Amino acid sequence: MKYQVVRNVKYDYAGQSYSTVYPNLHKYPATMLPQIGIDILKELNVSDGRLLDPYCGSGSSFASGLECGIKEMYGFDINPLAVLISKAKFTKVPINELIETRKMFRNDLYEFLKNEANIKTLMRPSITNIDFWFSKEVIDNLTIVKHFIYKIESQNIRNFFLIPFSETVRECSYTRNNEFKLFRMKEKDLLSFNPDVISVYFKKFDDMLFLYSNFYFPKLKETNIDVQYAKFQPQNDYFDVVLTSPPYGDSRTTVAYGQFSTLSNEWMGIDYARKIDGMLMGGTKLQHNISKGIIADYISQINKVDNHRALDVSAFYNDLDVSIKKVGNSIKKGGKSIYIVGNRTVKNVLLPTDQFIAEKFEENGFKHIITYKRALSNKSMPSRNSPTNETGKTVNTMLFEYIVACEKK
Ligand SMILES: C[S@@+](CC[C@H](N)C(=O)[O-])C[C@H]1O[C@@H](n2cnc3c(N)ncnc32)[C@H](O)[C@@H]1O
Repeated sequence: MKYQVVRNVKYDYAGQSYSTVYPNLHKYPATMLPQIGIDILKELNVSDGRLLDPYCGSGSSFASGLECGIKEMYGFDINPLAVLISKAKFTKVPINELIETRKMFRNDLYEFLKNEANIKTLMRPSITNIDFWFSKEVIDNLTIVKHFIYKIESQNIRNFFLIPFSETVRECSYTRNNEFKLFRMKEKDLLSFNPDVISVYFKKFDDMLFLYSNFYFPKLKETNIDVQYAKFQPQNDYFDVVLTSPPYGDSRTTVAYGQFSTLSNEWMGIDYARKIDGMLMGGTKLQHNISKGIIADYISQINKVDNHRALDVSAFYNDLDVSIKKVGNSIKKGGKSIYIVGNRTVKNVLLPTDQFIAEKFEENGFKHIITYKRALSNKSMPSRNSPTNETGKTVNTMLFEYIVACEKK
């Protein structure tokens, strides 16, 4: 092991869940525990300056930054649903305005529902295989809720109303709710599935309002959090700290962020929703395998048994390499980079992503400080896969997570 790894049980947070610090307002795959960010920022004495998360997802690193008193934070993600969740959580919207808007919204909606013919005046959204995923009644009711949400003028308030809408889309669709990938319920379960969209929506709205008012709003004092729906835009020597949990592999074979978000994104008008997984890190193909550095030997082992998988893996590390260069340039001298990643197994080869990250930061003018190894007990992601694609044959792929910290020289 070239870069030192220390097993640190403090970072296991055994028995703790995400909600111990900041309850989630919306489900998202592979969320980071904010506790990790809080403790590592404290340990590295980071309490002010600008924080960046180039893969911000649902925004856990902002929760960590908030707890440590950081006032300026920037995030990027190319999944529109992720950006929406982060914005809704970390934008300050007066609670009374949310309550007032809810009142008007509810009145307008119920007035509209009084006349059954009204639904004919609204356009059905453009969703791939809509009747496969939703019943007619659910489509009608979601269309009405959406119609009134988009009448809300303030974008910040509208974003807030869209979060329970997105959760309602998922809950009232025929997808199996406990899966991150899109799978339809069994045929026999469809007949008895008859959700009441409007009640589900208001229940989710009220739960979210409670959590936002109690856990987020009071902490959003002078902090400015700017989340962009884009690939990371580099800015030379600008950030004091980067705190992120990047993807640990391509979306097709690891966590399908795009697929998880497809129906919500489509309901919110994103017409390329089904293409998002291909746009994420590792989504573009490479012609040649990586042949230099720590990862090269591991890729060549995979290449011996499966040339296509080796190219996929190379594509992922190539993207990560390019991204680290840009991120590294954007950190100030003396600034810190903190990456939280898992090491996954492909074709029985355990890929040392933590070592790769330390190596790439060192190549870009950083010094590796420390890597902590923590046991992974509470992240929602697959911990087993089938390396040979033989049914029933599995290996452990991710039982530990690594916190890789470096400092710019
Ligand atoms: C592990 S998740 C981040 C989770 C986040 N820490 C949280 O707690 O919700 C990785 C994120 O990277 C995003 N992503 C993948 N490739 C990207 C790219 N090239 N540019 C920006 N975001 C990307 C995915 O959409 C996903 O939201």
